[in-house]
Formats: sequence, structure tokens, C-alpha cells
Amino acid sequence: MKDHVAGKRSPVTCALKCANACLGETCNSSANATFRDIASAALSRRALLGGGAAGALAIAVAGTAGAPSAEAATAAGPLPARPTAPGGSPLEFTTIQPVEHTADEFTVPEGFRWQPVIKWGDKLFSDAPDFDWEDQSAEAQRLQFGYNNDYTEIQEIPHTSGRRAVMFVNHEYTNENIMLPPGTDPEVAARIGMEAHGLSVVELERENADSPYEYVVDADLNRRFVADTRYDFTGPAAGSELLRTADSRRGRHTRGTFGNCSGGLTPWGTLLSGEENFNGYFRTAADSAENKRYGMGAEPTVRGWEDVDPRFDTTNEGYENSAHHFGWIVEVDPWDPESTPRKHTAMGRFKHEGANIIIAEDRHAVAYMGDDEKFDYLYKFVSRKKYVEGNTRHNMQLLEDGDLYVARFSGNSGPMDGSGEVPADGSFDGTGTWIPLVVDGESRVEGMDVDEVLVRTRLAADTVSPTKMDRCEDVQPSLTSRKVYVACTNNDGRGTEGKEGPDEVNPRTVNRDGHVVEIDELGNQSGASFAWNLLLVCGDPEQNDATYFSGFPTEKVSPISCPDNLAFDSVGNLWISTDGAPSTIGFNDGLFRVTLDGKQRGRVEQFASVPVDAETCGPIVHDQDRTAFVSVQHPGEDGSYEKQTSYWPEFAGTGPKPAVVQILPSTVSFSDVDPETAEYQAIVWSAQHGIIPGREDGTFRPQGTVGRRAMATFLYRLAGKPEVTPPRNEPFGDVEKGDAGYRAIIWAQREGIVRGYGDGTFRPAQKVTREEAAVMLYRYAGSPAYPSPTKPPYPDVEPGARNATEIAWLKARGIATTWEDGTFRPTVALTRASAASFLYRTDAVQHVAFREG
Ligand code: FEO
Ligand code: CA
Ligand code: CA
Repeated sequence: MKDHVAGKRSPVTCALKCANACLGETCNSSANATFRDIASAALSRRALLGGGAAGALAIAVAGTAGAPSAEAATAAGPLPARPTAPGGSPLEFTTIQPVEHTADEFTVPEGFRWQPVIKWGDKLFSDAPDFDWEDQSAEAQRLQFGYNNDYTEIQEIPHTSGRRAVMFVNHEYTNENIMLPPGTDPEVAARIGMEAHGLSVVELERENADSPYEYVVDADLNRRFVADTRYDFTGPAAGSELLRTADSRRGRHTRGTFGNCSGGLTPWGTLLSGEENFNGYFRTAADSAENKRYGMGAEPTVRGWEDVDPRFDTTNEGYENSAHHFGWIVEVDPWDPESTPRKHTAMGRFKHEGANIIIAEDRHAVAYMGDDEKFDYLYKFVSRKKYVEGNTRHNMQLLEDGDLYVARFSGNSGPMDGSGEVPADGSFDGTGTWIPLVVDGESRVEGMDVDEVLVRTRLAADTVSPTKMDRCEDVQPSLTSRKVYVACTNNDGRGTEGKEGPDEVNPRTVNRDGHVVEIDELGNQSGASFAWNLLLVCGDPEQNDATYFSGFPTEKVSPISCPDNLAFDSVGNLWISTDGAPSTIGFNDGLFRVTLDGKQRGRVEQFASVPVDAETCGPIVHDQDRTAFVSVQHPGEDGSYEKQTSYWPEFAGTGPKPAVVQILPSTVSFSDVDPETAEYQAIVWSAQHGIIPGREDGTFRPQGTVGRRAMATFLYRLAGKPEVTPPRNEPFGDVEKGDAGYRAIIWAQREGIVRGYGDGTFRPAQKVTREEAAVMLYRYAGSPAYPSPTKPPYPDVEPGARNATEIAWLKARGIATTWEDGTFRPTVALTRASAASFLYRTDAVQHVAFREG
């Protein structure tokens, strides 16, 4: 392996994943001039507000079954439903802090847990050998889950009440350096590597929507797609001279799929997968323009498969066209284990990141596709036939025939200085055109027949001056808004000597951290023109000179770098997984939610972080189940078999395993809390958020009382545990430095939330009454201006009584409601259940913030 590093990128990634693409010349050295800043009529950006679903809070009806105790049922009244996230999504979480790039940890928000669904080497069939770190074989690997899971999709199996699902995963590449003992015979290693590539289909099962999925050995739909699996070519280039080899004399089929990256779920239930870095598997003749344009050459490949199988060397007689069998979009039917997967030539051949489909208003299927290479292009495919709802057999033909376009962008702000600073008109934006390469089965490229346009798509596109992009990864249309999002992951060559300079859609010279483009098709989704703007210019605002989050305050976002895969939740929030953050902003890669609509547009919140050296793939967000899935690819890839850098996820002392992970809410149940009680939701929330944890014996003790130390601690946690500098003089005689509530009490005293007694004590163990709790919460909110009541807020709280204002405020804010008899009972001791209820309503339901005006 060559010791080559792009930037701080791992040399292992460079060699194994990208075949050292950066080391060679830029593949796209075409004279194609990017259309730069052609002034266009100032586009009024389409209104971005109000596109999502209304964020209304549903009111939960308190359970009627059972007979909750009188006090529990009435102390706080029925609780509103769980608070909701942007757009009304039920997946509410507290943003995690970025995790240092050396941490071999998988991190999720408080109140969530994670669990692998399936790992490299897990057997899909009972007749497979158990995985053995010391004795892996190609025969075993054919029947086991492959390596480096990238694109992942999960579909529920109909009529199983949500209990069964079928998962599709592709296996992008292999890391032999950490998979196999040193000295493994090269041919054995090559054979294992080939079988560890490809695809997997595997059935999943769970007890109910709250429990994690487990995979099912020997399930009917289980299938491995390995090195010799047959794929049929479809479309205009199928049968072309350019696809004929010694193994495929008619050029209508091939074997295997390698270097798969992202993919997409079609509306008819099949899966697409993009053949991306296929070039790294072939040794070719050095001198052809085509080979150079696709990043291939005469050097031996990193894996050396050409020494084992003649098709990986295109200088072998009969195999001159074998590299033409890769670089396609693959379509797989996971519902039919006997089906032959297909490679669709109509969608063009390049380093396909993936393809994502939306049905246009005129019913044509539209696929968006990125060519993931520095300075390469963005493509769109429009099916010739129309989608017919429910007719799967017909819809399965849609990608076999259609028109292929490549994108040209223009900006409206004049030349860019490459800094990434927002232009004077306030946004990176403009218009664009889809330039045809193939229309109605005919080539639109002079001097190239249609089969040549489709096989040598990069060369064909070069002739029509598309925009050279900063590595288009996932390109995903939102089914909620119909807008299309393009993850441009990075391009450290932008604006460097001899390379294309910045433009408005790729505005940063040496674009280390990437950006996200938002495209809004003008007219029909299948049409030829669009408007665009940048949603994000990524980075860590504390480290980068210029970042942009659609105007959202940069100090309130999670740092994000190298956007790669995209997904949407059920209400249209965008989710981004990253690949490369350790080498740019120094944090492990992760999964992030981005709000697209309303005042919070551009808000980035980190949801998960993956272990050392790993990239975050998948992702799948099932927010209605409050769950998400990510594929953790190449954990610990900078290690060696004998000196691993990661032991994730088993931590068994052997080595790391790529795995698909499910993230789901921690199950919180207490032996003494009936789920039917009114405070149940508040108790679960306060335990999940670590505000009022349960006891070690599995109880919550809802009727236990709350001392002053405990209440200060709950409020301190609710405020997010702010930093506390130690006081010069201790404020209380009975609260020492080692006190369990020391920091919380000091904080609460400084904030004026608690006070001491005349004798200089705090009395930390003294019970808090309900009226004292009201006072503390009122002060926690910043003692907002509130009129003294003129009428009794409760029959037992007279106007002018001690704390009447605070109690009235508590009632008005909906934090406390009445007992059955309508009283507040100010002098009764606060129970833990009522404390949970007050805090839940304060923070999560009523959104009363600490120090609210
Ligand atoms: Fe395999 Fe484009 O990342
Ligand atoms: Ca502009
Ligand atoms: Ca990718």
C-alpha cells in the first residue's frame, strides 16, 4: 500500500476506498469551463417558511384503565403528550457534544441507547461457520454478513404488525489490514475480500415497536450477493460492443458489484446501489484518455485481485471491456430472493455515489445522482415511461429507459473570493439548467453514439460544460417539499494552482468541510431548469473563518464537516451523516438533524457519534418509533490486525467490526410506577434525561419526599449543568465541598433560586413544600414580571398570602394544576412524582427556559 495521505485523511482510506484518487492527476482536466456567476434575473427565493407540518402538540388522554391512586391521579392533572421536535416529529432529543476523534465510543443522546443489529461475519444461514478472527475463509464469508456496510435501508414486511422487516445493505470495501492476520496468503486474502464486498439482504424481527430489531438466521428473504452473483445489464448500452468480454460474449450480463457507496429506495420497493470507486479494482492500459478520466492506470491495484482473476486486468485478452461492467446503478428486488439484480445503463456510468427517486408531477420517475470525485458532476435521469401506482412489474422497468441530464449552475452574486463568506445579497443562490446527454434514446453529444455516452458518461458530459462540483455524495429529494439536497462533501483542490476556482455553488477555496446545496426545480420535477441555494457551508464555527447555516446563529449549531449521506424523517427534517470530520474538525463522524423550515432553518443538532476512524453511513430515521439506524463503516481502519485502534462494538480484545446499529429510547420502567398513573410520562422523561434518576433497586419511589439539596440538584440538571467556579467563601455552614449537591446548591444560590436561613445554614435535607417548589421554579425562570393575584388562584391560596404570586404564575404557565378538590396544598411536602411533573411541564411541555425574561 502506498503511503499516501490527502490532507490529514487516513492513508488507509485513501488506498483502500478511493484507490489514492488524490495522488493522481485530477480526473476531470477537461477544458469544460464552469459557468461562473452568469448574472441572472434576481431570483426571489421561494418562501421557505411554513412548508413543514404544523408543530401542534397533541393532547394525550390519560389512561383510563386501572385505578390510579387519588394523589397520583390528581396532583398534577393529566399530562400533555411528549414534546415534539422540529416539524412535529416525535423524535425529541438533547443534542450531544461533539466527541474527540480518538474516542472508541458510540455516543447517543441522554435517554437513548444503541445496539448492533448485525455485524461483519454474522452468519445469515445456519450452515455457515461461526465467525473466527483467526480463521476466516472465503467460503465462510459468502454466507456471512459482509464488510463495511454503507447504504442501508429497512422496509417493514407487510401484515406483520411492524414486527418484521427486510434490511438491505451494501458492502463498499474491505480493510484487510485489520481483518486478516499478517502473512495471510495473498490469494486467500483476495478471495475473502471479494466475498466480503457486495450486498446483503436479511430479515429482521422485533417484539414490538419499542424493542430493538434482531436479524433472523435462515429467513426466507436472506441473501448474500457475492463476487460471482450474476447481474443483467438493461438499457441502450446492454449488448453493446463496449460491454463484451470473454465472460460475457453478448455484453448483456456480468458478475459481482464492488465499491458500492450510497443508494436509494424506489417507490416500488426495490433498492438502488451506486458503484462508486470501481476504478480501484482494475489494472488497465495507462495511456487512454478514458482510463485517465475514470482514474485507472497501469499500476498494480492495492488489493491485487488482478493476480487472482483475469477480469481485473483490462490488458488481458478478452477483458479489455471488463471495467465497463462497473460504475453503474444497481437495482435489487429484496422481495424475491431468486431475482437477478440489474445494472441500468440508461443512468450512465461514472463513480456513482447513489441514486434517489421521486415521482414527478407528470408521473415520470426522476433519479438524482452524484459523481463523487473532485470537480465532477451532478446528474438527473428521467424515465421515459410513467409510474403506475401499485403496478410493480411495470414500475420495475422505469429505470431501463429514459433521458440523462447533467447540471450547470449559475450564481447571481458575481465572482466569489473563495473565503466562504456570504455574498452581499445575503445568500449563495442562483439558477441552473439540466443539459441533455441522452433524450428519447438518442445521443445529444456530437460524435458519440448513445451506448458510448452511457459507458463513457464523464467524457460525454465534459463536452457540454456542466459545473464542476465539490464531490457530490448523496443527492436526495424530499418527499415532503420536493426540494432536492446535494451533499458536497469537500474538495481540497478547489482554487488551487491549475484547478477550477470558486463559484457561487462551490464558494470555498480548498473546501475542507463541504457544503449542502438545496435545489428547487422550476415547474415540473422532470423539467430542465431549477433554482438553487446553499443550505449549509459546513465546518466548526469555532475553527472555521466562514461557515453558513442559512442565517441560523452559528454559536447554536453542532459543528459538522464532510456531509455524506442524507435522509429525511417523517415530517421532512433533513438528517446528515458525515465522513471525514476527524481529519478536518477533529471530532468523530456523526449523525445530525437539520431543520429546514421556519425560524430554525439551518439549525444543526448532533444525534450520534461513531467510534474512532469510522464513517457514519445509512442513515435511516424512523422518528415515529423514536428510533434511527446507522451503519458504522471502517471503525479502527488505521490500526493493524496485531495493533488495533478500535475494539468496537464487542470490545472483546480482538478487533473492530463494521456493524449496523439501532438507536432507540432507553427503556425506563420502575417496579413502583404504574404506566397508567398520570405522572408516568413525566417520570420517564425525568429519568431518561437524568434529572430525577430512579433508584438502583429499580424503583422510583414516586411518593417519596424531596429535600432542598435534591430540588437544587434537579434544577441544576434541568439548566444543563452549567460550569460552577468554586466560591471564595462558603455561603452555607452546612454545605461542604464534598457534599453530593455542592455544585448545584452553589449554582442555585448564585442564581437566586435558593436562599439560606438566618443562622447561615442551608438545611439541605429539609423537605421542600409545594409552595417552596413554586418559588424555586419561578426564580429558575428568571422571576418574570407577573401581577400579584387579586383573586385566589386556588381556594387555599389567598391573594396577599405568602408566595401567592409565584403560585399564581405556576398555575398560569400550566406547570401546576389542581387537586381533585381544587386546592394547591402549599404546605404539603412535594413528592418525587410531583417534582417530575413540575419539571417536565416547566421544560419539555411549556418550554420555560432557565432565566427566561
Ligand atoms: Fe463512498 Fe462517495 O463516498
Ligand atoms: Ca447570491
Ligand atoms: Ca458516501
